[in-house]
Amino acid sequence: MILKLCIVLIALLASSYATRKLPENFMLGAASAAYQIEGAWNEDGRGPCIWDSYTEEKGLDNGYVAADSYHKWQDDVRNAKLLGLNFYRFSISWSRILPNGTINFINQKGVDYYTNLIKALKAEGIEPIITLYYWDLPQYLQLLGGFLNSRLVEYFEDYVRLCFELYGEYVKYWLTINEPFTICYDGYGSGGNAPGLQQIGDGVYQCAHTVLKMHARAYRVYDEEFRDRFNGQVGLVINSEWREPKSNSSLDLEAQERALQFSVGMYANPVFVGNWPQVMIDRIGNRSAQEGFTRSRLPPFTEDEIAYINGTHDFFALNTYGHYMVEYQDDEPISYPSYDFDRSVKTYNNLIPSGFMLRKKLNYLQERYNPKAILITENGYRTDDILNDADRIKVLKDFLGNILDAVEEDNINVIGYSVWSLIDNFEWGSYKAKFGLIRVDFDDVDRKRTWKDSGYWYQNLTSTRILDD
Ligand code: BGC
Repeated sequence: MILKLCIVLIALLASSYATRKLPENFMLGAASAAYQIEGAWNEDGRGPCIWDSYTEEKGLDNGYVAADSYHKWQDDVRNAKLLGLNFYRFSISWSRILPNGTINFINQKGVDYYTNLIKALKAEGIEPIITLYYWDLPQYLQLLGGFLNSRLVEYFEDYVRLCFELYGEYVKYWLTINEPFTICYDGYGSGGNAPGLQQIGDGVYQCAHTVLKMHARAYRVYDEEFRDRFNGQVGLVINSEWREPKSNSSLDLEAQERALQFSVGMYANPVFVGNWPQVMIDRIGNRSAQEGFTRSRLPPFTEDEIAYINGTHDFFALNTYGHYMVEYQDDEPISYPSYDFDRSVKTYNNLIPSGFMLRKKLNYLQERYNPKAILITENGYRTDDILNDADRIKVLKDFLGNILDAVEEDNINVIGYSVWSLIDNFEWGSYKAKFGLIRVDFDDVDRKRTWKDSGYWYQNLTSTRILDD
């Protein structure tokens, strides 16, 4: 009898461990971006974008064909269905529907492409989650100054209104802009992304000023003109890698906080709290004065702008991959103006991704910004070109386990999770790094798709929702 009882108890314990489950309403999806997968760069009236010219100028691999999803979108929908995704996050190429970026000419074939994709997803019971801007600015708007021209706010307004008008009835979640930090730091600071400008002292901030106004305008347009009709939700996709202090010394903790404020805070503070983080206002203001400027290199927001941007969120959309270690360092002597000197922390990449760090980050975001919900819009792991990607499965499991801890133990309302990426794609300059659940053969004119082990694992997860399998 006692033996029997013990066996039942052990079985019960084992099954409760094995059935560590994601909540039924927790959405599981996968993501992509137009320039990284579509190809068809000059077909059916698409206008050029900054990634076409940047890759050409730098002699890099490009997205002219990419995974050819412009022609193979039905395969992508089929795979999304087979994977059992609750949602598919993709982006609209601005210059595919407005070739110059301006509203005076609408490219019907581009419009139809997304209508077909959205309707096919809906027919399969997959929610389309749409990113409106994913780094592929129409080239014509770059000629007008890109993110350094605040008129971009108006061009973006016209474009997003058109998208809401065209697709709003099918879409519950809109993402305005993907990773403003990357857009501004890499595009206008380090020069490592299109348009490749190196204006680390001020371009980064002017870009951020414009991005935040663009996001807010899009949110307000939806709120005022479409929310009653379509009842969707809108958010800004913020990438925020956790910063782990090297020690618990007060200096390292100060460096950690400063590093977070100069990255996630730079975009989350205006949207969730109001205005730039104070530490940015103070430090950039001080250094600018010492450098001989008459005003801060960080463009101030007017009171009206602060109020307009503040509150433009229905959820916190988070892209998250890894974390950095940070360490205090003394301020650099005054020399040339630079974001890096303004921030002034020693930082290095920790290459081993850690779900526990993500849990810490989720707690930090909840505490600082108190969002109604958090949607993880990207999380993934890079491998070589392999089908047996056990490492990816291990890492994603670790992330998901920690997200579940955050939901169950820390009471954080994480509503969904999106793997980056549905398929292998153009990794901004080359095809070497692979992130897909599904392999794409880039040497094959047909861009054949083959499922990786992680694809089968994710398929099992979406159907059983059991994590510890
Ligand atoms: C970007 C993706 C990119 C991924 C992997 C993310 O930060 O949003 O476009 O493919 O990183 O590098």
